[in-house]
Amino acid sequence: MTELTVAVVGSGYMGGGIAQVLALAGATVKIADISEEIAVRNYERLLDEARQFVADGLFPDDAVERLEAHLSPAASIEEAVADADFIEEAVPEKIEIKHETLRRISAAARPDAVIGSNTSTILIASLAEAVTRPERFLGVHFSNPAPFIPGVELIPHPGTDESVIPLVEDLVASTGKETARVKDSTGFVLNRLQYALFHEATQIVEEGIATPEDIDTIVRTTFGFRLPVFGPFAIADMAGLDVYAFCYASLQTRWPERFATPESLKELVDAGKFGTKSGAGYLDVPAERTAELVAYRNKAYVAMKKLIDELGPAPIHLAAAPVAH
Ligand SMILES: NC(=O)c1ccc[n+]([C@@H]2O[C@H](COP(=O)([O-])OP(=O)(O)OC[C@H]3O[C@@H](n4cnc5c(N)ncnc54)[C@H](O)[C@@H]3O)[C@@H](O)[C@H]2O)c1
Repeated sequence: MTELTVAVVGSGYMGGGIAQVLALAGATVKIADISEEIAVRNYERLLDEARQFVADGLFPDDAVERLEAHLSPAASIEEAVADADFIEEAVPEKIEIKHETLRRISAAARPDAVIGSNTSTILIASLAEAVTRPERFLGVHFSNPAPFIPGVELIPHPGTDESVIPLVEDLVASTGKETARVKDSTGFVLNRLQYALFHEATQIVEEGIATPEDIDTIVRTTFGFRLPVFGPFAIADMAGLDVYAFCYASLQTRWPERFATPESLKELVDAGKFGTKSGAGYLDVPAERTAELVAYRNKAYVAMKKLIDELGPAPIHLAAAPVAH
């Protein structure tokens, strides 16, 4: 739980979800938008959504009462931010709108307030140009849908004061979400990786190798199936970095540059660090814990399969669509 006072500026899709999450964690949250009328309308929408989420078992039973107690619409940006310890900007992804909003936030906020931006793609340092105290500003990037995705990228820019970061880390931790820190670089980490995968997937479709449906099936049921529990480095370590080096050599027969062997992989393999099987790789998993890791992995995959079978297929396939009469 947190007792911080928070303002979320831009109470649309992402800002609304972020406000719900922070208010449910105990923060006193004010939402602001272009006008009081829109903020009030969005507030009502957030309560309606919460009622549905409670009915669907997605929010705790007392979520609506907790939101009524902790969340409120503000008449203006200035009113919302005046008392806030933390302010999250979630206005549209246009630098002019963000700059104008950050100027207004800076002018009305307490000098010790920390300001975050939910930008997906704009460099934090370029947004910081409009912030009066840029040392108290950083990217705090929630993912869609904010109420349910548990990871948040934290993106300090080079001028961010280290001492402001724990406030945000603690606030996000109080929501039950997990943070990871990333340098201020185009696409940050989430979108850079997501678009790298999407880029390759579209190439495969355009080359006529597989359909979007078949690619989605492969991703969901093979390597994507591992991703809820392991990231690419744990996966590579478990597969064997020597194996990765051989696969790179094979990919290079067609794409020598696109799939050039990464320097870090070469160095590890040359040093005899092949990942889990040798007790050292990208992540240092001690060799004596390999059996425990394999057991966890197997348990996780069986549990995931069971969960997905219980959920049934996503309603995006033609076969699952309702038939019109
Ligand atoms: N939608 C996503 O999947 C997603 C995921 C992660 C991050 N983001 C980022 O979150 C931010 C918000 O995106 P969104 O999808 O919630 O957009 P949205 O259009 O749903 O919400 C934007 C809100 O900002 C308000 N607004 C517009 N101009 C304003 C102003 N001058 N002052 C105050 N409020 C203003 C709008 O009325 C609206 O309520 C963007 O930076 C976006 O890139 C979006």
